[in-house]
Amino acid sequence: MTSKNEEGGGTLAQQMFGPQAGVYAASKVHISDDSLESVQKLTGASHRQAQGDGPGTANYRWTVDIGTGAGFTAFAMAEISDRVVASDITQPMLRQAKRIGGERGLSNVRLAQNTAESLPFANGSLDLITCRKAAHHFRDFEASLDEIQRALRPGGSLVMADTVAPESSELARWQNDVELRRDYSHVEDRKISVISGMLADRGLDVIGSEDERVYLWFNDWVKRTRVAEDEIRSLRREFQESPQERREAFQIGEPEEDGDFLFSFPVWVFRAVKK
Ligand SMILES: C[S@@+](CC[C@H](N)C(=O)[O-])C[C@H]1O[C@@H](n2cnc3c(N)ncnc32)[C@H](O)[C@@H]1O
Repeated sequence: MTSKNEEGGGTLAQQMFGPQAGVYAASKVHISDDSLESVQKLTGASHRQAQGDGPGTANYRWTVDIGTGAGFTAFAMAEISDRVVASDITQPMLRQAKRIGGERGLSNVRLAQNTAESLPFANGSLDLITCRKAAHHFRDFEASLDEIQRALRPGGSLVMADTVAPESSELARWQNDVELRRDYSHVEDRKISVISGMLADRGLDVIGSEDERVYLWFNDWVKRTRVAEDEIRSLRREFQESPQERREAFQIGEPEEDGDFLFSFPVWVFRAVKK
């Protein structure tokens, strides 16, 4: 464990995720969804499952999952890696990962508390880095990409799955505004074009990608981050009074009897290889 921070204080992310760790550990969209399947596809894990290969035929020696939360992506990578480090800034999240990893009987997953902006791994030491549903929370995403680039070996891969913003600046601004009002630790959902430029600047070549959506029920979405009642009312009104272009961009559905409704945000999953 490398950070001195404990729950109760620490960064905004720790303050947000610490008390809610149990909720994230039970969240259906975190346990499994299309983005995890795409991570498995882009890392070769789903091919392996289809072939029925057992443990001991790993594709990767050292894998690190950053912003691991309750560990679901790290656990999927344990199937195709000799060793996995599940790392996160928030101690209560790592405790959930430890509990669930133990329940699943995984012996090749270790935990580390560190920030994505400062990875405790040697230059060129890692074969695979994964990161799912986390990068838009990183205080300094570019610093985390610098660290990923540094720690990967040449030919090593970054496989990332995260919420992104539409290319329209107006829609991107609205999405980031509602995200921040719902989660004070939110930093930025970026446009794919922006992320692509950052990867190219660091010699990380995108060799495969999937465009997806994350489908969210509004009530669950605001409950997970304990949004205040008046803000929930204001957000609900804003979603429901959206102009047609925004309704279509975020697939905002009609409200049910209890006021709940479904909407979606775009997600990008990519594999980038270090030159
Ligand atoms: C939604 S959860 C991650 C879900 C998880 N990757 C999965 O696949 O189920 C986001 C995580 O990012 C972590 N996080 C936020 N900022 C971070 C940072 N700067 N460095 C490392 N982890 C961070 C939070 O503590 C939280 O556990």
